Amino acid sequence: MEIAPSVLAANFVRLEDEIRDVEQNGADLLHLDVMDGHFVPNISFGPPVIKSIRTVTNLPLDVHLMTYNPQDYLDVLESISVQYISFHVEAVPHLDRMIQNIKGRNIKAGIALNPGTPIGAIEEVLPLLDYVLIMSVNPGFGGQKFITYTLDKVRRLKDFIINKELSTLIEIDGGVNKDNARLLKNAGADILVAGSSVFNQPDRKDAIESLKV
Ligand code: DX5
Ligand code: ZN
Repeated sequence: MEIAPSVLAANFVRLEDEIRDVEQNGADLLHLDVMDGHFVPNISFGPPVIKSIRTVTNLPLDVHLMTYNPQDYLDVLESISVQYISFHVEAVPHLDRMIQNIKGRNIKAGIALNPGTPIGAIEEVLPLLDYVLIMSVNPGFGGQKFITYTLDKVRRLKDFIINKELSTLIEIDGGVNKDNARLLKNAGADILVAGSSVFNQPDRKDAIESLKV
């Protein structure tokens, strides 16, 4: 199981220390939530902050675009050398084009699905994807409660991936904690995003270890 701490829950005043702390204590990826105030009702940070983050960590950067027009950010994200980019199926009419656009830059491509969006929405393009990001809260804010019906969605997606003999990874985002980590693993999750359950804990080593079930 890989753990991707979400910087959204970090103390932004001490961002460099916060990132080094999770990097030294077992984080596998660093999850970066970009919000535009339109697709989701919140604004977080964008490419300038990600560019600064790139200079203080060697962790692979996992960018989650909660925005309309995510294609507009690809040039700058490529120039920053991020390794993963996911965009929302609900925000993009041309899934295939967008996936090709990301993969053509040698960046891993993922599609994010809101809790209420069925997995059928990405069935056709699943073989093209490196990963699927299943949202287990409504996107826009950290610290929300895990929506339990998404577990079944993870199971069905995993079955689909196995039946099609694909190697697509499943990443889960929202309300992940030590109490649901094992359930998520058993359902088929490969990567757990964790904001509050890592950054709001005094001991990050302990926090990350408890999610690596
Ligand atoms: C929510 C973001 C998540 C968020 C998760 O819109 O996509 O990545 O930071 O935070 P927690 O783990 O606190 O639910
Ligand atoms: Zn996220």
